[in-house]
Amino acid sequence: MKDSKIERRDFIRKSVLAGGAMMVLPSGTLFGKNRPNNRLNIALIGAYGRAKAHYATLKDENVVAICEVNQLNLPPAIKEFPQAKVYEDWRKCLDHPGLDAVLCCTTDHTHAFIANWALNRDLHIFMEKPLAITVNEARTVRENYIGRKSKLATQVGMQRHAKPNFNRLREMIHDGAIGELKEVFAWGNRQLRRTGYLPAAGPVPATLNWDLWLGPSPKHPYNPGYFAGNPQNANCLNWNMYWDFGIGQMGDMGSHTMDIVWNVIDADLPESVKASSPEAYNPEVTPVELTASFVFPANDWRDKIRCTWFQGGAMPKPPLKWLDLNKIPHGAMFKGNKGYIIANFDRRLIIPLGNKGDLTYFDPRSEEELLPDLGNFQKQWTTACKNGKPSETACNFEYSANMIETMCLGLAAYRAGEELVYDSKQGAIQNVASANQYLTKPYRKGWTMNG
Ligand SMILES: NC(=O)c1ccc[n+]([C@@H]2O[C@H](COP(=O)([O-])OP(=O)(O)OC[C@H]3O[C@@H](n4cnc5c(N)ncnc54)[C@H](O)[C@@H]3O)[C@@H](O)[C@H]2O)c1
Repeated sequence: MKDSKIERRDFIRKSVLAGGAMMVLPSGTLFGKNRPNNRLNIALIGAYGRAKAHYATLKDENVVAICEVNQLNLPPAIKEFPQAKVYEDWRKCLDHPGLDAVLCCTTDHTHAFIANWALNRDLHIFMEKPLAITVNEARTVRENYIGRKSKLATQVGMQRHAKPNFNRLREMIHDGAIGELKEVFAWGNRQLRRTGYLPAAGPVPATLNWDLWLGPSPKHPYNPGYFAGNPQNANCLNWNMYWDFGIGQMGDMGSHTMDIVWNVIDADLPESVKASSPEAYNPEVTPVELTASFVFPANDWRDKIRCTWFQGGAMPKPPLKWLDLNKIPHGAMFKGNKGYIIANFDRRLIIPLGNKGDLTYFDPRSEEELLPDLGNFQKQWTTACKNGKPSETACNFEYSANMIETMCLGLAAYRAGEELVYDSKQGAIQNVASANQYLTKPYRKGWTMNG
């Protein structure tokens, strides 16, 4: 592993650019626009559930539009943002006059659609995780974003990224705390078992536009079970395991937990992927237990590396028999040639191994050299919308699209039942032509993903 003070300083500089300190322009200079008090005109799409976690940030901006398909979920947002115009269809909401930005908390199967439509209309956007649910969706969003990254700020709701442990892990591994990085692992144990789409159990409440809730997804009958969490709670745990509405834990906790690893390994896209599960493919429901393994090409500081994601009971082997990784519900493990680091979102544990387990090879950085705190994750986005440095958000649509494209490739390999060789430039599977069908999905007539 390369490691000199000069490289380390360069790394800190890059990391500051990637996720750290922001220069805020004086009030009234909202990046090319002239808005009173330097506030963004924002549309909130999906007003309740996860959206509540964003109300505090939104209160510092002008929420001029609220879009919601369930009238029962409107009152809390209207109470917070009484000036906002209410919409039911996000396609119309995005045409609200004078809009600068969008914050979106809808179902996963609408995310890439809303992201693309917002980008294509030159709107900054914060999208809840996961950014996309197919390889093709992820690639389309990334391409639209890259063409506009000099003017649009984006962020995906992977807010745990702001925890200091993310920086500490990156520093320790890049500084050689476990020697040369050889392999990485991440896992999540959430298990939400379903057998198939819920049967019709109508009528659809007059307060819900079920057709718009389904949006681009193929038609399914209404069943209140998709909303069993009640409006107060996260209902995503009642619908994100169905293929037409989400990608299960790959997109749910996978978006957060894989990020622990992603933030360290500086990966682009994998060159091959394989997956296994004790569960046969169910065309209605995503697998609960799954292991997906990706090989990433070497980069300028590490060799080619294997990264494996485990979910729903599948787990990596611990480096020592007496370590029980099951005690960490969502975690990551980094294997180097001199030891291991095991982590969750908040803590890390170094395990130096062998006769060289004396850590004398490791030169920890000084306090001044530590990566700067990211600060408030949502604010990082609103700041980037305004300060003329829009791409300087930690989980922008390039970083996040690469990660979710990788996860979606794991599901493609699971469905194909074979190891897949991936041409990441073309977005095509090279060795199993039939597996390319798993990189996209059918949408309902009338819905355009890149509109
Ligand atoms: N970052 C996190 O930690 C975190 C936590 C929970 C949920 N989430 C994400 O937030 C999103 C929402 O999850 P949730 O649990 O709040 O779901 P939910 O179903 O409880 O709430 C979604 C809200 O959006 C509305 N909505 C759904 N589709 C819509 C559409 N097409 N147009 C307008 N409004 C629509 C719903 O009526 C509801 O008010 C999911 O993508 C989920 O993955 C992220």
